Amino acid sequence: MGTHLPLNLDLPRLQQLGRHWGKALPAGAVVLIYGDLGAGKTTLVQSIGEGLGITEPIQSPTFSLIQEYLEGRIPLYHFDLYRLLPQEVRDLHPELYWQGEEVAPGIVVIEWPEYLPDLPEEYLKVELVVATPEQRRLTLSATTLHQPLLPNLLNP
Ligand SMILES: Nc1ncnc2c1ncn2[C@@H]1O[C@H](COP(=O)(O)OP(=O)(O)O)[C@@H](O)[C@H]1O
Ligand SMILES: [Mg+2]
Repeated sequence: MGTHLPLNLDLPRLQQLGRHWGKALPAGAVVLIYGDLGAGKTTLVQSIGEGLGITEPIQSPTFSLIQEYLEGRIPLYHFDLYRLLPQEVRDLHPELYWQGEEVAPGIVVIEWPEYLPDLPEEYLKVELVVATPEQRRLTLSATTLHQPLLPNLLNP
């Protein structure tokens, strides 16, 4: 994995970063968001959605598993895999979303990627840690093809 850059972000800055990503991320980008409950994963996804121009409210898709938002600049596919079994995740065929063949190519964002039986070949990896009640420590890294995106993504 390439560059790792830690940022300490309060809520407005984390939301600003997410909106920037929603404007900047290309179709085909896969964003894996690691972090405990309350770390800010869904908050980040909501901000990415805002940057994409999605006005529909984005909630955690815990009961629907995959939520598709098609009204923005490009589609947003939001997964929340919390506590799914490997076979349940396989049955969702998440690879169809990042292969972009059977669905329109868009941005795939995955909460709880620990539950993916197989990682995509290429992805951005976000790690969120609660630093203080108001601050989150965000680390961003990328596999080979996503690495050229990093400098822009870190400068909202
Ligand atoms: N700097 C921050 N970044 C993100 N969320 C924050 C921050 N400070 C406080 N929060 C709060 O933490 C909670 C994060 O919840 P959520 O995004 O649902 O987390 P997760 O999806 O990781 O379980 C929200 O209530 C949010 O307002
Ligand atoms: Mg969540």
